[in-house]
Amino acid sequence: MDLLVIRGGSPLRGTVRVSGAKNSALPIMAAALLTDGPVRLREVPRLSDVSTLSQLLRFLGMEIDETGPNELALEVKDRRSFTAPYDLVRKMRASICVLGPLLARRGRAKVSLPGGCNIGHRPIDLHLRGLEALGARVRVENGYVLASAGRLKGATIDMAGPQGTTVTGTANILTAAVLASGTTTITSAALEPEIVDLAHFLNSLGARISGQGTSVIRVEGVPALNGGAHAVIPDRIEAATLMTAAIATRGEVMISNVEPAHLASVTQLLRRAGAAIEIAPSGTAIEAAAGPQWRPVEFSAIPYPGIPTDVQAQFTAMLTAAPGISIAADNVFPNRFMHVSELCRMGARIEQSGDRAVIHGGTRLTGASVMASDLRASAALVIAALTAEGDTTIRRVYHLDRGYERLDLKLSSLGANIVRLRDTPELLTDSPLPQARAA
Ligand code: UD1
Repeated sequence: MDLLVIRGGSPLRGTVRVSGAKNSALPIMAAALLTDGPVRLREVPRLSDVSTLSQLLRFLGMEIDETGPNELALEVKDRRSFTAPYDLVRKMRASICVLGPLLARRGRAKVSLPGGCNIGHRPIDLHLRGLEALGARVRVENGYVLASAGRLKGATIDMAGPQGTTVTGTANILTAAVLASGTTTITSAALEPEIVDLAHFLNSLGARISGQGTSVIRVEGVPALNGGAHAVIPDRIEAATLMTAAIATRGEVMISNVEPAHLASVTQLLRRAGAAIEIAPSGTAIEAAAGPQWRPVEFSAIPYPGIPTDVQAQFTAMLTAAPGISIAADNVFPNRFMHVSELCRMGARIEQSGDRAVIHGGTRLTGASVMASDLRASAALVIAALTAEGDTTIRRVYHLDRGYERLDLKLSSLGANIVRLRDTPELLTDSPLPQARAA
């Protein structure tokens, strides 16, 4: 297992390129199960979640070749298997995205229930209800979802749950419906750009989907899909993380390969917090810099186009520097505050209760040994460490590597003092750590 040692205090400066979106790449790769034709994907981020899903898809009979640094060629060679085993699914919840494609193309799916995770209870009832509405027989047995069907039949399916819509649930119903007979109407569909990207990919294979990006998506079923090629959209969460890091360190960074429209709510909030954000004339880059003065802000993470829950932790870390009281609420995952106690160990003054954190800002954090608890919490700790006085050691960096393509290298290229080391039992938490050095 790796750890990161970060010496805080260097403002980030320079230009950095955002990778393809993890949350687009994963459902799109899973959707390649729907066709026997070859699929070529570009802008696939190199992340451990992509490797985990590749492992699962290979297990399900797909051949996957890396044809370039961020390019994959995928082709189904064997359609006999329909099982996504626990050992692969437990590593990554997004494995649930194989459920819809397997059921639609192979008539059967046995997919391990993903189980709990550190950001709270994450049920999949809406996925299962939607598949039943399409005519599947679904039951849960021995920790697995067992689903079977002849050809699925179009239906009207509402994806609203108590916390709003569901992103991977919408992806599962969309991928199941493309090969169904008749028309499927998905209401309260997720509006996320990653769902739009998935729909564009499926349409490029011959699916007939319309309304993506709105709350009502219509799918006219087709008997089969072709192969095709697609480039994954830029990762708006990585872009927001880099913007936040630039601002938190009082730096100035040009972030390229972005879709500014996908970042509208993030940009608006950062400006409200006093940052200077400029969209480059090219329309595909954003310059993020600290403004003359911090302002405390209040926000709630909600489904797209609102502030994403996937940046709540990073914003919370950044706002520890803004004098005054800021409030971060999370309406999507109300228990997603594992980062708060680690930030407090670095000197942050945050009170958390229920679905909100009250941040008493204006503190200078100090380096400490901290533990990453989930993907975005680890990004928050990295941001906190970049601003802190002294050295911070972040353990369980595998959480970070699940969803960021070598964030440490990208930050080094912007002037961060950050080193990656192999964690060993000898490396005692409070022993003097190797000097963090500029990369
Ligand atoms: C996706 C993203 C994740 C992001 C999240 C919310 C991927 C691979 N992951 O996760 O990064 O944080 O969207 O934007 O795209 N819910 C139910 N019943 C269900 C499904 C969900 O009640 O059947 C609830 C969840 O507990 C949560 C809310 O709905 O409170 C949203 O979850 P959902 O959109 O499903 O998250 P994921 O798709 O798992």
